[in-house]
Amino acid sequence: MRFDTVIRNGTVVTATDTYASDIGILEGKIAAIAAALPIENTGKVMDAAGMLVMPGGIDAHTHLDMPFGGTTSADDFETGTIAAAFGGTTTLIDFAIQQKGQSLRQAFETWMKKADRKAAIDYAFHCIITDLGDAQLEEMGALIHEGVSSFKLFMAYPGVLMVDDATIFRAMSQAAKYGGLICMHAENGGVIDVIVRRALAEGKRAPKYHALTRPTSTEGEATGRAIALAEMAGAPVYIVHLSCNDALEKVREARDRGVPAYAETCPQYLYLSLEQMEAPGFESAKYVFTPPLREKWHQEKLWQGLARDTLQVVSTDHCPFCFKEQKELGKDDFTKIPNGGPGIEHRLSLIYTGGVHGGRFSPNRFVQLVATAPAKLFGLYPRKGTIAIGSDADLVVFDTNAEQVISASTHHMRVDYSMFEGIRVKGVPKSVLSRGRTIIENGKFVGKAGSGEFIRRQTYSGM
Ligand code: URP
Ligand code: ZN
Ligand code: ZN
Repeated sequence: MRFDTVIRNGTVVTATDTYASDIGILEGKIAAIAAALPIENTGKVMDAAGMLVMPGGIDAHTHLDMPFGGTTSADDFETGTIAAAFGGTTTLIDFAIQQKGQSLRQAFETWMKKADRKAAIDYAFHCIITDLGDAQLEEMGALIHEGVSSFKLFMAYPGVLMVDDATIFRAMSQAAKYGGLICMHAENGGVIDVIVRRALAEGKRAPKYHALTRPTSTEGEATGRAIALAEMAGAPVYIVHLSCNDALEKVREARDRGVPAYAETCPQYLYLSLEQMEAPGFESAKYVFTPPLREKWHQEKLWQGLARDTLQVVSTDHCPFCFKEQKELGKDDFTKIPNGGPGIEHRLSLIYTGGVHGGRFSPNRFVQLVATAPAKLFGLYPRKGTIAIGSDADLVVFDTNAEQVISASTHHMRVDYSMFEGIRVKGVPKSVLSRGRTIIENGKFVGKAGSGEFIRRQTYSGM
């Protein structure tokens, strides 16, 4: 037996098992999982003694090179995927946005061009639908067939991205017919708009009013409505960036009844709270994203949701805008602050620290949340999201004892601040492999921009 690479002496962790084993890699795939693999004629031998060897992370929610509010998110497919690799993410699913009047295919092709020859890790796309005529409805089936098997719809941002309930119902029905999955941004945009206009009329223009004009009840209501529409359409639904207990309760109640409702949360909702919005001056613009930060008590509810499978996935909603020049567009009016925050780099470390070291769940549940569940839900499994013979050799050698203090001065995202500045994490990727090629080694990026591939995803088939 001959391998290109052998990872020796590690502890393999999947969503279900933990065991000591070597891993043999041949032509980008996992070719052997056994103790004491032969290393004669092996191209490269990596020692993982004392380390966990896990499937590469899958970030199911990123916005690279995304136009928003008169500017564009600061990371493109090169800088964003390199930062993701540093953090142990080897596949991401970004969003191709359909402009009004466009075909869905035009949106897909635009985003394929953005990623081409830039991405350093593998990537796939959801398609954001803003305009669903009969032609686009038909296109959904074709796109699903070509590997774009999920779509995002917005119940917020009236006049820009928001669609009405009839559109949501039509899209869900079509997704159910062709094996697609609808991802839902669940906030009641109409109500929020009224509250925002009242705030502006009262002269409330500081960044904190972004959070104070989007109450948790608007997210709870929309989450319940999204699930009800999905039930009527006989479709599964995936709630994105769930931030509060109001929404969590709607998902829990539906899942208890056996409804195929799924949800993700993001590290910012687990680590940050409304307290951040009290930062002096314009500082709190760093935390302007939607849904907004919530009162601190919601954090523990979300951690419980992750432990108890009310929440299935942790993604980042990485949507970076520099504080200088980009966030500052809203200096005099919070509605003009580009919405989004940077997070693609530290998802695994933050969730391992709070989840596993925090005593809330096992390393296996950790792997499930950051890799296996997104792979299964979004049609990447078993090619991605696990360690099995024949799977892509997307692997992370993870040092559970290494500590790091997160800082904009050391991170690799192309943005001038960190949402998690000063937070100490324990559990850091030491080496990262993408389809068998080492892309992170000893704290250095050794991969190549452009070596990431577009992955055609399979249809939705449950968890
Ligand atoms: O504020 C956010 N979350 N920006 C990205 C777009 C979205 O709604 O996911
Ligand atoms: Zn959203
Ligand atoms: Zn998003």
